[in-house]
Amino acid sequence: MTINVSEIHKHAGEEIELKGWCYNFRSSGKIFFLQFRDGTGRVQVVYSKSDMTEDQWMILESLRLESSVVVRGVVKEDSRAPLGFELEGRFIQAIQIAPEGYPIGKKEHGPDFLLDHRHFWLRAESQWAVMRVRDRIITSTYEWFHENGFVKFDTPILTPTSCEGTTELFEMDYFSDEGEGSATKAYLAQSGQLYLEAGIMSLGRAFDFGPVFRAEKSKTRRHLTEFWMMDAEAAFIEHEGNMAIQEALICRIVQDVLKHCQYELKVLGRDTAPLEKVQAPFVHITHQEAVAKLRGMGSDIGEMDDLGADDETLLTQQYDRPIFLEKYPAAVKAFYMKRDPQDPTRCLNNDLLAPEGYGEIIGGSQREDDYETLMMRLKEHNLDPKPFEWYVDLRRYGSVPHSGFGYGLERIVAWLCGLHHVRETIPFPRLMNRLTP
Ligand code: 4AD
Ligand code: MG
Repeated sequence: MTINVSEIHKHAGEEIELKGWCYNFRSSGKIFFLQFRDGTGRVQVVYSKSDMTEDQWMILESLRLESSVVVRGVVKEDSRAPLGFELEGRFIQAIQIAPEGYPIGKKEHGPDFLLDHRHFWLRAESQWAVMRVRDRIITSTYEWFHENGFVKFDTPILTPTSCEGTTELFEMDYFSDEGEGSATKAYLAQSGQLYLEAGIMSLGRAFDFGPVFRAEKSKTRRHLTEFWMMDAEAAFIEHEGNMAIQEALICRIVQDVLKHCQYELKVLGRDTAPLEKVQAPFVHITHQEAVAKLRGMGSDIGEMDDLGADDETLLTQQYDRPIFLEKYPAAVKAFYMKRDPQDPTRCLNNDLLAPEGYGEIIGGSQREDDYETLMMRLKEHNLDPKPFEWYVDLRRYGSVPHSGFGYGLERIVAWLCGLHHVRETIPFPRLMNRLTP
């Protein structure tokens, strides 16, 4: 019977069959140790020459790293094995014998070498673990939203507008104006937010999840040019309610990863103690308070400056819970954010900073819901109102207070897995200087 490695504990004493890959091997001439993996887990298969036919033994001796195989054996308990079991080998079939020279060996490789061989590096146990944590975060996100009345609403990737400012846009010439035939610029989406705002006037609460694009000129450990964003939006939710939703979602994700991914976190050497502390209520501080604190710690940040990555790191090291950083100066934020009635130089917005120096994982705000004010904001931001006509129109028919936020999936994966750089958190990273494989 063919089973998965992950089910092996249910078959102690039985002969079973597995299909997968040989990720390592060693032979004493009499005993052959085959390190086997099948996507669900890893197990050692131990063959004795005395139990095998000559032909079978020759197949074992011809195996090279990453050969694909079918193995059969009897499941034995072994307290030293990661899963508590190993196989006493009875049969081997080679599906493909890989040639000598698999590029990723036991020796240390630099990050550039590994990224050049990403198509193979993904098979390493650490990368397997990262991809599984990523999948868990995505699954928990869908579950939480569906349990809380949000509808999945897919937003377009080709758009005529910029959502997050014009400096980081990927531009293309392809479309022509309907009717007139004149060229019109298109951009790859930076966030689905504006379209979600249309969606919630039908559905009440909605979220999207997909790739977004930023032509970032900076090469930092937190920036990708293509990354996965989850945007959520809700009608009749204001600034405070918006943060409550973010807090509940993040708590759920962290709890689920702790519940379902203990093995993966262990593979990654992630200390889970700091993750256990991620519980409501999160810390709340205003931008103004944060600047005062940072200056006290030696930062040269100005009163009305955006926080730099170093400032974020410094700040998050002061607390063991995520921090809501609220009410930024309007001058450093996007046109659609509603101003704080108490201080119109500031927005009703928040970033959410992850602990342990991981920095911003979420950006969100209450949205400007007044037609005239929004038109004025477009002007102030030097944005052509034409492609935004449909968006401001939303404020003419049934405008309501509403808020939303977006998370960067790779930043959350990096945080929960304890990775220094986001390039390991996505199957095939796209950076300013990396497009392959
Ligand atoms: O803060 P941002 O730019 O917010 C928006 O795009 C809003 N329209 C979202 C919304 O309100 N619906 O981006 C949201 C998040 C950031 O907090 C960060 O986690 C991530 O996206 N992010 C990036 N992740 C990887 N590489 C980049 N270049 C990123 N830029 C932003
Ligand atoms: Mg942001």
